[in-house]
Amino acid sequence: MSDSKLNSVERDKRVLDLYEQLVEIEHRLIPTGLHVFGRPSQAEEKADLLRMIVSFDRSESGARALPDLVAEGLGLTQTNEAGRLEASSDERIDSVLKQSIQQFILNGPQAAETLLLREANVPVPLSHPVFDLLLGVTEQLKTNTELDSLVRALRGEFIEPGPGADIVQNPSVLPTGRNTHAINPYSVPSVISFTRSRIVAESLLERFKEEHGPYPETIALVLWGLDNIKTQGDGVAQALWLLGVRPVRDALNRVTQVEPISLEELRRPRIDVVMTVSGIFRDLFSPTVQLLDRAVRLVAHLDEPYDLNYVRKHALEQIESDQCEMDDACTRVFSNAPGSYGTNVNFMVMDSQWDREETLGDLFVTRKCFAYGRDSQGQAIEGLEARKAMDRALARVQVAYQNIDTFEIGLTDVDHYFEYLGGVSKAVEKRAQRRPAIYLSDTLTREVKIRSLEETVTLESRAKTLNPKWYEGMLKHGFRGVAEIENHVSNTFGWSATADAVDDWIYTEVAETFVLDEAMLDRLRGLNPHSAHSLVQRLLEANGRGYWDADPSALEKLRDINRSLEDQLEGVA
Ligand code: BEZ
Ligand code: MG
Repeated sequence: MSDSKLNSVERDKRVLDLYEQLVEIEHRLIPTGLHVFGRPSQAEEKADLLRMIVSFDRSESGARALPDLVAEGLGLTQTNEAGRLEASSDERIDSVLKQSIQQFILNGPQAAETLLLREANVPVPLSHPVFDLLLGVTEQLKTNTELDSLVRALRGEFIEPGPGADIVQNPSVLPTGRNTHAINPYSVPSVISFTRSRIVAESLLERFKEEHGPYPETIALVLWGLDNIKTQGDGVAQALWLLGVRPVRDALNRVTQVEPISLEELRRPRIDVVMTVSGIFRDLFSPTVQLLDRAVRLVAHLDEPYDLNYVRKHALEQIESDQCEMDDACTRVFSNAPGSYGTNVNFMVMDSQWDREETLGDLFVTRKCFAYGRDSQGQAIEGLEARKAMDRALARVQVAYQNIDTFEIGLTDVDHYFEYLGGVSKAVEKRAQRRPAIYLSDTLTREVKIRSLEETVTLESRAKTLNPKWYEGMLKHGFRGVAEIENHVSNTFGWSATADAVDDWIYTEVAETFVLDEAMLDRLRGLNPHSAHSLVQRLLEANGRGYWDADPSALEKLRDINRSLEDQLEGVA
């Protein structure tokens, strides 16, 4: 192949990669403002949401995914080598989809169904259930009884229960203002959740292999309670797949046991999984904690070769090197001490109360080194301090991983992702003497994606923090909106502190967008000088701690602005 040919092939690939990244950012559903308690959602916010809702099969409503119906109607089902539709087909389908949603909003279901028949040969009996579902959703979005329910709850009256999830995951969360119920932990993972989690677990392993060669032997997995309620146990199911076991239901249809999936069926090694579960998970999913612990012990006892069963390999190696018992060598489920919650890593970062990064990882272990499960004598282990066992388990970790399953809350929206996933990664870094690969799965779209932490931080920064649609939406909320922007910057900083996952350009663009732009700075300091000041201080801290190689003149300006904000706040005080 000649050089110029190679260059043009390479150039085409780069253009395509860039195109895909832009489409990814464009298609990302983002909140364009905060939910105001008691206020129904606005019409203009609805189109994107409705489009996402119809992107998935909804068997409970007899509705198939609209993109599939349109693709079939247009005869655009041919996929490329990667199993994906050509970009031009995707664009065409998306355009018809958008038109039909617009028709639905403007003229109702019949108009949308007619348009789909005319433009994409989608038979009305197939499109009708989709728009029937949307009709129900839009009616329920128009009403809002949250304030009413709150008052009734304060009076001690009965509040109707409803499921907890986001609207895209489960449209039956509507109407809001109900008493969110959890799920029966014995139903976790549900059959659907276990089935769909296989591809997530396999994709995670594939992604690691692409970048690092062999299978990872050990993965640190973060499990949260609310996430597993919303998905009926996706995180749990992923852990079981990695270990190579399947849930077994008893006569009452309760998941109480696991059984090994044969190595012939699994066609890969069983991966060692170190689980750090939140206090909420520990409390709500006590039988599931037991199930996960049982799964690890079962796998460790399988008489299989080391290179196909990393749990057994590590347990037996540890018994030999530490002269310990099998029970100790199989401890993999960790959480807080009974009655305690959280890692406190977020508080330490937010308060700037730390000198060395390793302190953050040590704090994570101090808070999370309590073992849960049952030993071989059948004795319950209920929050037994097991720092050494956790240190040993973390020292083997090659991958740190968490599942993201909601549109509403991402990596930089709250400080909990970096306190958990960042915290465990930092703890691994010291104990394994290397930074683990850090991945997140994104099951928000039809296609499962595994992204590195850096890719996810970049996507969040582009789609939210630095996106005018997002920050202008926030600024409509005045004081609170500025606080949200500052939160995002601080949470981004949390990813520098715990995982060094933030590129310089992100801080540079944050500074240029919110501080060095005079008109914007005036708006921020007018609406909320406290948060404006915190934002500037956080940028200076990012530079001070070596996370942001800032331009000296920009830095000088930031320092001046910081002083002037301090003067302003003293005047306010
Ligand atoms: C949980 O659902 O387990 C959780 C929620 C918020 C922060 C951390 C964990
Ligand atoms: Mg850097």
